[in-house]
Parts: sequence; structure tokens; C-alpha cells
Amino acid sequence: MGQNPSKITRRQLLRTGALLAGGLPLAGSLLGKAQASPIYPGSTGTLEQYRPGSKGWVEQEIALKAPADLKARLFANENPFGPSDKAKRALTDAMAKSYQYPFMYFKDLYQMIADREGIKPENILFGAGSTPLLMAAAMYFSKPGGNIVSGDPSYEDLPTTATHFNAKWVKVPVTADYKLDLDAMEKAVDGNTGLVYICNPNNPTATVVDTDKLRGFCERVSKKTTVFVDEAYIDYLPDPAGTTLVSGIKAGQNIIVARTFSKLHGFAGLRVGYIMAQPDTIKKLEDYTEGPMSISATSLQAALASYQDKEYLQGALKKTLASKDFLYEVLKKEGYTYIPSSTNFVMFPIKMDGEHFASEMMKRGVGVRSWVLGGSNQWCRVSIGRMDEMEAFAAAFKELS
Ligand SMILES: Cc1ncc(COP(=O)(O)O)c(C=O)c1O
Repeated sequence: MGQNPSKITRRQLLRTGALLAGGLPLAGSLLGKAQASPIYPGSTGTLEQYRPGSKGWVEQEIALKAPADLKARLFANENPFGPSDKAKRALTDAMAKSYQYPFMYFKDLYQMIADREGIKPENILFGAGSTPLLMAAAMYFSKPGGNIVSGDPSYEDLPTTATHFNAKWVKVPVTADYKLDLDAMEKAVDGNTGLVYICNPNNPTATVVDTDKLRGFCERVSKKTTVFVDEAYIDYLPDPAGTTLVSGIKAGQNIIVARTFSKLHGFAGLRVGYIMAQPDTIKKLEDYTEGPMSISATSLQAALASYQDKEYLQGALKKTLASKDFLYEVLKKEGYTYIPSSTNFVMFPIKMDGEHFASEMMKRGVGVRSWVLGGSNQWCRVSIGRMDEMEAFAAAFKELS
């Protein structure tokens, strides 16, 4: 098992303040920046950012504004085809014993992932979704004077958290075809780079980089710094096993691979995610996060069921692809282009102000997310939902396009 629940972690010490008092290196380096009600001691971000309705999380803001009779929830890249029936049954069955701490369910889940990936349980760390693990990496690898390299645009949680811990965020623009620019990212790495964050497939562009090129990148760059490959959307690719960078971990490289059950498994509300890395990296990151003890016994047992439910996963993927094809046709018919998507969402340029567009769509019962790329170009990111949701999108979109 990757986590020893009985261990008093650095994170727990941080919470009690003992580490701050002891002045260990992390806390010591951050004390000067501490504010009233920080998320973590030393963080410059405050809880205010994460309160409902605050500016901390765009999707949360949209969700809170959404009417109760929302017709299509297409703003958070969730998967409405999940969770699977088997996962739901496991949840219901687990309810009766949910007064018990979930100690006994980690082992099976760790072993199952290890067996499928051809790694050891010591290479894995679970969390309540992958977000706490991204946060742990951001905290651990951010050093004052250091930097974190990411694509632009890309998923921002990890680098944003890193800036709260005084790291500089080096943003490398995507290529003309909206893919991560691996050559430019490699050039951006310097002696102060604490971590390179690669989101593949990338959110929000929905593009994927060439696997061999990424393997070469990881082999070279992981000799200089840690490479974090976020594979949240990998299950939507035709060959996830042939695309994952877990091969780099097996080859001994300094890589962290993140996965989540929030997407194809449909577990966004159940909160299960994991990272895979070298055992010493896992041990270090354990100190910055709660690990599997932060996951409910019900969610853990549902994850065990879902991970083995190949039939459900294939079915959900098929339905996602059908809804995506429908969306492509709608966009083409209305004279719009889009970035071909390797995920469960699509980015396309719009012909009006993005926020105005999103709010007009919301008035019509359809929640989407807008984006500004390159400083001025307005885009819409629409998640792939059920066919009735895509039809609601089409009806609202035709009124505005
Ligand atoms: C690229 C990427 N990574 C990580 C996450 C976090 O997912 P979770 O915390 O639900 O596992 C998301 C969520 O949308 C994402 O898009």
C-alpha cells in the first residue's frame, strides 16, 4: 500500500502548527508570506478564494448560478453516462458498513491498479480525486526562486497553487494546432525548474501530443527535473495503454503520472484519483496530502467495481463519441470551426464576447464555459453530455449563432 495511515505526516504537522513552530525547511521558507486564513500555512491564497461563489473556481461559479431546471450541464467535463450500475450497486451495498473507517479497502485498489499497470503498490498514491495530489505536487516542488513550466492554455490548478507557494509560473504557448509545444517547453526548463506540468490530453484544448515525442521529452527532461503528466482524459483515447507515460516510471524515470476516476468512470462527485511515480517520490508527496484515508469507504468500493467494469467503460465511451459527432455536425452546420477533440469536451471559437455567449446560453438552460485565448480570441468549451443535452445545446446555439 502506498500510504501508511498511522504515520503522522508533514501535512498533519502543518495543520497542527507544530511544523511551523519547528521551522522545518518548507514552513521556514514560506512563513514570511503567511496571510490571514491561508489555505495552507505559508500559502498566499486564502480560503476566500474557495468559498462558494468566489472567483476561485470558474466551474463552481457557473454551477452556483445555474437554474434548477438546467437542461444541459456542459461546463465541467463531467461524464453523465456514469457511474456504472455496478459502481452504484457497490455504493449501496457499502452503505451499511460506512460507520467503519475505510482501512481495509485500499489494499485491493492499490493491487488492482499495480497489476494492470505492471508496477508495484509502492508506486501509487490515492487521493479524494486527483486534485489533492496535484496540490501536493505543487506544494512539494515549489521553492522560492524556482519555477513551474506548463503549457498555455492548459489545466491551471497545479501551477496556480505553485504560485501561492512562491514559484514562478512559466507559461509556454501551445502550437498553431493547439498542442503542447514540447520543444519550447523543453527549452523553457532551466536550473530552477521544480516541475514541468504536462496535461495530455490537454484541458482546455482537447489535443493530444505524439506519444513517441512525449516519451523522448520525458526521458531527457526527467534527468533535469520532475515531469508531471496529467492523464485525466487518457481513457477517451483509442489506446490508453499504448499512450500512457507509466512506461517511463517503469524505466526508472523521474515522472509522476496522474489519473482520475472523475472522467470516464463518472466519479466526479465520488472523488477518487491517484498518482503513480517512483516510490521515493510517492513517500515525499504523502507528507503533503491525506492519501486514501480522505476517500470514503463507499467511494473506494465503487471504484473497485468500476475499474473492473470494462463493458460500462466501453459503452460510456461509445455514447460520448456519438454525442461528440452530433456536436461536430451542429457546429459545421452553423458555420463554426472547432479543435478536433481527444477528450469529452470540445473547444471552438465563437463570434461574440465569451462571457456574454455563456450567459446567453445559460438563459436558455445550457451551461458552457467560455475562454479567452491569446489575449483576445473568444472561445467556448463545451463538455460532451447525453444526446438530450447536446440537442438542448444545439437549439440554444442556433438562436445565438
Ligand atoms: C486535466 C485535469 N486534471 C485534473 C482534474 C481534477 O480532477 P479530479 O480532482 O476530479 O480528479 C481535472 C478536472 O477537470 C482536469 O481537467
